[in-house]
Amino acid sequence: MSAKEVWMASAYDTSGEDGAGPSAAASPAARIAVMRRAHGEKLRVCGALEEIADALPDRVDRLMCVSVASTLLPMLRNIHRYEEEVIFPAYAAATADMQCVERLKAEHVEDECFADELTEALMTIGHGAAVANPEALGFMLRGFFETIRRHVAFERDHILPAIAGAPEVSPENGPARQ
Ligand SMILES: [Fe+2]
Repeated sequence: MSAKEVWMASAYDTSGEDGAGPSAAASPAARIAVMRRAHGEKLRVCGALEEIADALPDRVDRLMCVSVASTLLPMLRNIHRYEEEVIFPAYAAATADMQCVERLKAEHVEDECFADELTEALMTIGHGAAVANPEALGFMLRGFFETIRRHVAFERDHILPAIAGAPEVSPENGPARQ
């Protein structure tokens, strides 16, 4: 993955076409298309993090570290916001499985906290600092991208199929009446 591709991940935005926020009025197929794109962006960043982990300690691409550090947290927040405002209400309307929604939301919080720590570490390395403890950083990176990949796989296998035929949902009013 090139630094440019990582940078492109930062351009990911789940806002509606009118710029007024996530579009809850989109069809199930459109929501699924957005989610597939979001998952693709997450997996691309996971690939960059794996490249960094594999290159520790001496072959690290510092530009890639800066690029990932710049894009990771904004990308996650955008995607999480879209999921929580559009996808999860549709999933809850289709399945009534609130336990699953709460678990996924909790994972979002943990992932953002973890991403915050990683951002700081990657930015430091990207700006030329020596990798003080490559083993610990490698462990941290792998823990993060493996967690993200599991989360994406779960959403792809369980959430997307459930919302394929879900009713329209308004974020303000909950599931629309049938
Ligand atoms: Fe998620």
